[in-house]
Amino acid sequence: MARVALVTGGTRGIGGAISLGLQQAGCKVAAVYAGNDEAAERFRDATGIPVFKWNVCDFDSCRRGIETVAAELGPVEVLVNNAGITRDATLHKMTPEQWSAVVSTNLDSLFNMTRNVIEGMRDRGFGRIVSIGSINGQKGQFGQSNYAATKAALIGFTKSVALENAAKGITVNAVCPGYIGTEMVRAVPEEVLKSKILPQIPVGRLGEPEEIARCVVFLAGDEAGFITGSTLSVNGGQYMAS
Ligand code: CAA
Repeated sequence: MARVALVTGGTRGIGGAISLGLQQAGCKVAAVYAGNDEAAERFRDATGIPVFKWNVCDFDSCRRGIETVAAELGPVEVLVNNAGITRDATLHKMTPEQWSAVVSTNLDSLFNMTRNVIEGMRDRGFGRIVSIGSINGQKGQFGQSNYAATKAALIGFTKSVALENAAKGITVNAVCPGYIGTEMVRAVPEEVLKSKILPQIPVGRLGEPEEIARCVVFLAGDEAGFITGSTLSVNGGQYMAS
């Protein structure tokens, strides 16, 4: 039977590639998005992947949304926590709004989504949870104290939830991309990207969304049952975390 997979931020960028990768791997995929209706409709029409709109910052919206997905496709067996935003600023210039928007979208969402699928996964004795971290949560980044804090927290969350659910057939892992050629990275000032970031990538280029997707598909597979609590760094050699 095809597994049911849910990808947050699943209609664009890295999330779009993950949704497609899971579909190609034989999953029934639900792609969740928050705001960009036009991109979501384009994605649905191009791929046949159903899209669902809700705000991952809100616990009850997640609960209701996950119930809708379960009613239409079946209970969620693979959860990919991918939705995330940046509001880059040095700390001495950062506003409370920039801090809170990032914490709520990148970190509260992990609780809101995972809490609402975990009991079902435990009852059924199977689950795959993959959360998308970042190189910048591993090493820190100029202008990203908010974002880096959430992405570092994601690793602690992953390891803890992995421990709690290891005996229930559920694996919980993190994939930490480096700089991937998406809108998020294109928002970095061109000069900063050229002079400060690209020279730090030994492979000599930005990554492709598909290069992250294949790691997620690997960790989401039934065969990956012995990998849990791990962090897979996919960054072109920019930061070699042990
Ligand atoms: N390292 C060292 N110095 C840096 C730097 C860096 N990465 N980025 C900026 N600076 C320096 C600038 O060169 C400048 O120095 P001078 O005073 O000598 O000119 C100083 O910091 C101030 O820079 P700005 O004038 O740009 O200051 P600002 O307040 O307008 O903006 C900033 C600062 C918001 C950090 C901006 O530089 C920026 O957006 N940088 C990019 C941050 C970044 O890499 N974000 C990653 C986004 S992609 C992502 O998050 C995906 C992922 O997971 C990898």
